[in-house]
Amino acid sequence: MPKYRIALMPGDGIGKDVMDAAQIVLDKIKLDAEYVPAGIGWEFWCKEGDPLPERTVETLKTCHCALFAAITSKPKEEAEAELVPELQGKGLTYRSPIVRLRQTFDLYVNLRPCKAFKGNPLNYRDDVDMVVFRENTQGLYAGVEFHPLPEEVRSVLEAHSPRMAAFEGVTSEDIAVSCRIFTREGCQRIVRKAFEYADSHGYPTVTLVEKPNVIRETSGLMVREARNIAAEYPEIELWETNVDAMAMWMVKNPQDYGVLVSSNMFGDIVSDLAAQLVGGLGFASSGNIGDDFAVFEPTHGSAPKYAGLYKVNPTAMLLAVRLMLEWLGETGTAEALMQAIEDTIAEGKVRTYDLGGENTTLEVAQAVADRL
Ligand code: NAI
Ligand code: MG
Repeated sequence: MPKYRIALMPGDGIGKDVMDAAQIVLDKIKLDAEYVPAGIGWEFWCKEGDPLPERTVETLKTCHCALFAAITSKPKEEAEAELVPELQGKGLTYRSPIVRLRQTFDLYVNLRPCKAFKGNPLNYRDDVDMVVFRENTQGLYAGVEFHPLPEEVRSVLEAHSPRMAAFEGVTSEDIAVSCRIFTREGCQRIVRKAFEYADSHGYPTVTLVEKPNVIRETSGLMVREARNIAAEYPEIELWETNVDAMAMWMVKNPQDYGVLVSSNMFGDIVSDLAAQLVGGLGFASSGNIGDDFAVFEPTHGSAPKYAGLYKVNPTAMLLAVRLMLEWLGETGTAEALMQAIEDTIAEGKVRTYDLGGENTTLEVAQAVADRL
């Protein structure tokens, strides 16, 4: 029996193009693995009314981890209009399958390394090397939201928070509330992962990106837990910044930062900013990681206008493969793949359109594979 069972979820649009690119590299490294195809995305929404069919979840439960490429999603009305006729009018609502994967498998870490590759013409600076740890299951994305605000919820809020007086004259019909929910354990585990990573990868600092001066309770809890954990790592400095100021510092002095840690929404924003500093969507990979399962993906979407053209940059997808190898403990292979990606970019001979080249997605993957 192979050592690993890995699910492959190409999804929609260019997801298929970049998954084919990943396959070229996976074939070359000859990982002792069985690859199991699993369906996700728009096609499954339209035909079955679920972009993450239950059988996919069941398949994932039999795997060590998964590689996911990209999916298409559309606003509510459009989504309903594209359902096959027999599923229309049944009250089905589209929910992001990625968010569901994160919550179903408790993939609480969103790991986003953002390192400038030598010779990448899209670098903002050549010396950026940041790794973002974004909390992936709680906070503002927990999905606890109300509109209109139910009277029961309203009266409890009014009874417990004098600040609700500011909304006294507004009807419940005209109030929308999204809850920002942090748990102590949720804060502890993301901060701990950030410190463990800084420790094992030689980063001297962990920067906490929150807003405790204004969002006192949730960000405040995160700050207190971060300080406690930081005390266990005397050789790593904890820097505390407010998210708004951080956006400015990341543009001004991005080279000063190492590991960043943040809650779900702030982390989402900060990680896209960090990604753009090192070349943007073609270079941004991420890991959704839990205690015993993980899903690795490029962070770009399905870019429908390029679907099937094999034009887009596969680097983000190949970097996702590298993250997966590292997580599996295949450190040597992960390092070799990283080196092959770095060398291919530095040499600059085989490039997709975004880097000013004319090579295809698969030619870039082949160039990387040839170095392995
Ligand atoms: P997108 O990431 O698909 O593409 C935006 C633009 O970025 C593309 O038109 C292309 O110019 C460029 N781009 C993206 N990936 C690239 C690559 N690998 N190499 C070179 N250039 C690349 O975002 P967009 O257009 O906002 O969304 C398209 C669809 O993807 C939507 O349905 C959206 O909901 C979905 N989406 C899915 C995500 C996921 O699966 N994780 C993330 C973001 C969007
Ligand atoms: Mg995002």
